[in-house]
Amino acid sequence: MSSLPRVFLTREIPEPALARLRSHVEVDLWPEETAPAYQELVAHMSSADGLFSMAGDPIDAAAIAAAPKLRVISQMAVGVDNIDLAAAGRRAIPVGHTPGVLTETTADLAFGLILAVARRIAEADRFVRQGLWRAWTPWTMVGKDVWGATLGIIGMGGIGQGMARRALGFGMTVLYSAPRAKPEVAGATQVALEELLARSDFVSLHAPLKPETRGLIDARALSLMKPGAVLVNTARGAEVDQAALYEALRSGRLGGAGLDVTALEPIDPGDPLLRLPNVVITPHIGSASEATRLKMAELAVDNLLDGLQGRRPRFCANAASLPGASS
Ligand code: GLV
Repeated sequence: MSSLPRVFLTREIPEPALARLRSHVEVDLWPEETAPAYQELVAHMSSADGLFSMAGDPIDAAAIAAAPKLRVISQMAVGVDNIDLAAAGRRAIPVGHTPGVLTETTADLAFGLILAVARRIAEADRFVRQGLWRAWTPWTMVGKDVWGATLGIIGMGGIGQGMARRALGFGMTVLYSAPRAKPEVAGATQVALEELLARSDFVSLHAPLKPETRGLIDARALSLMKPGAVLVNTARGAEVDQAALYEALRSGRLGGAGLDVTALEPIDPGDPLLRLPNVVITPHIGSASEATRLKMAELAVDNLLDGLQGRRPRFCANAASLPGASS
């Protein structure tokens, strides 16, 4: 029997990081492309010293309780809303995550969604492929200007700040709402959420999913948005009331939406949002560049090995819940 610590890895990761992981631990690699179902996750966690998880894996208090040997959780994502951080903390299990390395890549995608929706890029591509392009006309696939418009950023962490830099380069007016002012972001103005919703042509979500951001963009918030405005979400699907969003788009109240995250992932192929031409939906690929995914995997391996070697992971998401943390 191997004396190496056993790690349950819930999806395959880029090869150099996987090879490094295998040189330090016994890897129990989930063989499917789809995530393990909850019962499978719990079964594999029951014999694991470490868990290497992905965003969305449901790591609740019961799953943690069913893993008596577990010493560290390392998630290949910045967001850790799928993990019961307090339950892990009570067992002195640190939770690692991967902030920083994915900031610019995710901001690229969010800005890309703004452009795609405003300039109808995905819709225009479908139009051409369907053989509908018969002539140049002054009205074919006419959209909205991004340059010079107003962007409202909700959540001004690293990714929100990356959005601000991109938007300022496009000559946009940049507003943001965040719990704390960020004076270091020159050119962006902090306003209350209501004002941001009322003034922005594009609203982009960059806040982590927490009790206070769950359902933040509900029917009321949508009703405060400018007629014809566009909502972009690369944060978490649960921050938006998707039924209310559908209604705002169907009625023409909103001009469009770019969603990299949805309430249910993957989105049900029968979801009515998929029938709306002014909605661009991507499969949670905010951080999906080759270089960034490799950096995330390597950082998650570092975090995991830190935890197995008795150190706090270099990027620890639940430091405040670990024993010894000042409350
Ligand atoms: C992706 O959603 C992440 O949190 O990194």
